[in-house]
Amino acid sequence: MNIAIVGAGYVGLVTGVCLADIGHHVTCVDIDRDKIAKLKKAIIPIYEPGLEDLIKKNIKKKRLNFSTSIKEASKDATAIFIAVGTPSKKNGDADLTYVENVAREIALTMDSYKLVIEKSTVPAETGKKVERTIRLNLPAKLKKSKEPVFDVASNPEFLREGSAISDFMNPDRVVIGVESKKAEKILREIYKPLKPKMVVTNINSAELIKHASNSFLATKISFANALSQICDKVGADVLKVAEGMGYDKRIGRAFLNAGVGYGGSCFPKDVDAFVRLSEKSGYDFRLLREVRNINEEQKSSFLHLIEDKLWIVKNKTIGVLGLAFKPDTDDMRSAPSIDIIKALQAEGAKIKAYDPEATENAKRIFKSVTYCKNPYEAVKGCDAVLLLTEWEEFKKLDFKKMKTAMRQPILFDGRNLYHDYHLEQFGFEYYGIGRGDL
Ligand code: UGA
Repeated sequence: MNIAIVGAGYVGLVTGVCLADIGHHVTCVDIDRDKIAKLKKAIIPIYEPGLEDLIKKNIKKKRLNFSTSIKEASKDATAIFIAVGTPSKKNGDADLTYVENVAREIALTMDSYKLVIEKSTVPAETGKKVERTIRLNLPAKLKKSKEPVFDVASNPEFLREGSAISDFMNPDRVVIGVESKKAEKILREIYKPLKPKMVVTNINSAELIKHASNSFLATKISFANALSQICDKVGADVLKVAEGMGYDKRIGRAFLNAGVGYGGSCFPKDVDAFVRLSEKSGYDFRLLREVRNINEEQKSSFLHLIEDKLWIVKNKTIGVLGLAFKPDTDDMRSAPSIDIIKALQAEGAKIKAYDPEATENAKRIFKSVTYCKNPYEAVKGCDAVLLLTEWEEFKKLDFKKMKTAMRQPILFDGRNLYHDYHLEQFGFEYYGIGRGDL
């Protein structure tokens, strides 16, 4: 099938490349000329394992194209995915300006039937607004048509950064929100090669499934983080508590890892948007407001732990291992490292940091951080080290070498990565999250 994807950001790019890889002819569109010129040469703007190879392969097979024109990309397309950004406004609402602009442009350049599919995470009822925008802006000759000239559908994405390609290729489910048989048929055909479990519903429900899924995962994390606070106080081990809970199939072990809080471009923004959406619809989603509070508190309590154990923070040199909001990505959006580093700097600490991929993005965020080429350089001469992102590389460090390089061997493990490493044997003073048992 010929498919256009509007928005070559994280979601659009991964979706477009994967759809090409399963056999469709895809054109990805973006207004950023420089980005499109680079993508044509398979130079990708983000770090996502496997993406570059897949782009090269599908450009070569002539199934993947890039363009700056919606008109050109959608000319022969049956389906057009909208995958543009939906940033948060100051009040937490999703800003849908880009979605509206794209919907209007799709309408103005429409010359035959199109299925317009929302892929961006949008509040419930956006589908209806997209439908209205397209209807109002259709060319005169299409307005007169007796047959429907377009349909709108919702197809939320559930891709995780860092494992987006395998998430796309092996989905737990594909959710489609449709209002016509034709739209359902087209979407089923698009995903047929993956043989996925399909959840077919109306557009509003599909939009809510996305909000509810991300908010529920964020709730699990905040539950684990709240548990970690109790574990610290009563001498329990949050990892064992999570393990004991997780064997119950109704609960599951995933997303019960306590740490310095969730970050990224999705959970913080989506929880905010769901709280706002609920508020506007007349329901106060108190549970989610608390999920958000717990996430913020988790960072402050980590800072209190550092202040407590380091005693004086001013003029201390602190090494930071990991800046990205999670491993296998260069994404710094809402990364817990941001608040933690800025708070320590405000108290007068000097920060040295190492991240395998996120350094360039971090440079745009922090002032006066010394970026290092490897973990050992980052901890050299430090009074303490913080582990903030659980990169694979940090699992295999030479702890003897690390200890010798540091001025004071104190390690604050914000992800419980070293929970069973017994770092005391290398001479470290070790602090984890929710490890009241230590
Ligand atoms: C999340 C969802 O997992 C995807 O299903 C969804 O498609 C995506 O948002 C989106 O809406 O686009 P992502 O933000 O890439 O994906 O990352 P996750 O792996 O979900 O992690 C989010 C944050 O939670 C990270 O900061 C991670 O460190 C933290 N986390 C995760 C924990 O603190 N504890 C856990 O147990 C799990």
